[in-house]
Amino acid sequence: MDMAFTQVCLWTLLAFVLTWTIFHVTNMKKKAAKLVDVAAGERRDGGADVIIVGAGVGGSALAYALAKDGRQVHVIERDMRQPERMMGEFMQPGGRLLLSKLGLQDCLEGIDAQIATGLAVYKDGKEAVAPFPVEDNNFPYEPSARTFHNGRFVQRLRQKASSLPNVRLEEGTVKSLIEEKGVIKGVTYKNSSGEETTAFAPLTVVCDGCYSNLRRSLNDNNAEVLSYTVGYISKNCQLEDPERLKLIMSKPSFTMLYQISSTDVRCLTELFPGNIPSMANGEMADFFKNSIAPQVPQNLRKVFLKGIEEGAQIKAMPTKRMDATLSEKKGVIVLGDAFNMRHPVVASGMMVLLSDVLILRRLLQPLANLGDANKISEVIKSFYVIRKPMSATVNTLGNAFSQVLIASTDEAREAMRQGCYDYLTSGGFRTSGLMALLGGMNPRPLSLIFHLCAITLSSIGQLLSPFPSPLSIWHSLRLFGLSMKMLVPHLKAEGVSQMLSPSYAIAYRKSYMATTAL
Ligand SMILES: Cc1cc2nc3c(=O)[nH]c(=O)nc-3n(C[C@H](O)[C@H](O)[C@H](O)COP(=O)(O)OP(=O)(O)OC[C@H]3O[C@@H](n4cnc5c(N)ncnc54)[C@H](O)[C@@H]3O)c2cc1C
Ligand SMILES: *[C@@H]1O[C@H](CO)[C@@H](O)[C@H](O)[C@H]1NC(C)=O
Repeated sequence: MDMAFTQVCLWTLLAFVLTWTIFHVTNMKKKAAKLVDVAAGERRDGGADVIIVGAGVGGSALAYALAKDGRQVHVIERDMRQPERMMGEFMQPGGRLLLSKLGLQDCLEGIDAQIATGLAVYKDGKEAVAPFPVEDNNFPYEPSARTFHNGRFVQRLRQKASSLPNVRLEEGTVKSLIEEKGVIKGVTYKNSSGEETTAFAPLTVVCDGCYSNLRRSLNDNNAEVLSYTVGYISKNCQLEDPERLKLIMSKPSFTMLYQISSTDVRCLTELFPGNIPSMANGEMADFFKNSIAPQVPQNLRKVFLKGIEEGAQIKAMPTKRMDATLSEKKGVIVLGDAFNMRHPVVASGMMVLLSDVLILRRLLQPLANLGDANKISEVIKSFYVIRKPMSATVNTLGNAFSQVLIASTDEAREAMRQGCYDYLTSGGFRTSGLMALLGGMNPRPLSLIFHLCAITLSSIGQLLSPFPSPLSIWHSLRLFGLSMKMLVPHLKAEGVSQMLSPSYAIAYRKSYMATTAL
């Protein structure tokens, strides 16, 4: 497409976005933050400074970080056995940087984790690679990802946390939060001998994952189920070119293959409610064999079919989206999947969570005790803003990318899907820009908006070439509408000023991603 035309379109689009923003910002409700006076909490029980519910990725990392700062930490985890689950198997380069800033980088060692240097993308018989940028001067860490068995990683994090003398990691199932006058004082839980008991601490952190029960007593935030991720492991095999995650732009949506150990390959696809074959009677295995496998490129198909033919257990996980909201209750912090979820296609939940843990650690560091509920409330409010560059970028990218990847007979949607493939695999600044965003190497919402607009415009360019017809103009307008629909609700949900003001992103990078940052 003609460069000048692209430029004009880009500027028009930016002007549109900015006008809309200014309009919105001036209309923003100013919520007066009323701080109820609550006496500084005391350390009851002679026990912990903080109770953490759940020793998954988030709970374990936070326990380690807070204990390193001298806090007494009591972690209560329902099931101490190694989790066997299909989630959190891909750690982005940005996530690895954050892990190392928390002193937890060695948890990716000794678990047969595999290196991933980027994507191999397949669409309609074509194939191209999209590497993480290696010459990004802004990213002070080795620009590769790691893939692994999630349970092995979680076990390493738990070991690392409980190796500190001031962490008490106990098996138990938390039943409810203990509340007095709007302040959370502790939890009731069933301990390993099956007895109901209580624990008190000035601060409670709820990090009980995507099926969180406790979240419901703190806010009315509801998770939306977008689709299901269905997959299995092909054992004793290796992918060709194993350092690239294989992303196949298949129907009805994407299919992925990636090496999660030197011998195991994860195979998965996305399916939508109402169209899910039964697992119990073998329909699902047939579906993988007959509907998905033929769409998998020849050189990957053998590995893809291996698991199915060997009767691997097929698992399904709901893919959920939930925006972050603050709880009115005091003395409590909600974290991880209990707090905020995005579509897992961008494989970034753990990265956002590690970023959140690092931010919270930093904000809590200056507090002599964690019992001042008002101070904690202030910390949570700052946390909510500081996390935006990372969380808003990832959440918006996850939403947009997942929608684009859904196959459709609608020409406008299909043009966008093709446009996305072309853009991602075109090489140069488009590929490196998008991959830096995906890898968490450049958590800048503005940069994301730029690339989304550029994808939209180049897709429109394709639709209109070589000659615009009334029909193609109509499809172009709809495509433009579609892309606005992907962006605008997120600008609203994540906060317009946080997403469009570059200062937040600069501050984030300086504090959390620079070589000099702790
Ligand atoms: C299909 C899918 C794929 C994903 N892929 C990726 C990926 O590739 N990369 C990535 O970064 N992210 C990915 N994610 C997201 C990522 O897995 C999550 O964001 C992350 O695991 C959340 O960590 P968490 O600590 O909040 O929860 P979890 O790691 O789930 O930990 C919660 C813990 O709380 C415990 N618990 C629950 N209830 C109680 C209770 N009442 N009492 C005591 N303990 C309790 C549980 O046993 C568990 O150990 C994916 C998500 C999905 C759904
Ligand atoms: C479980 O709780 C009860 C009651 O508080 C206590 O007596 C018992 O020792 C606890 N069991 C364990 C294993 O901690």
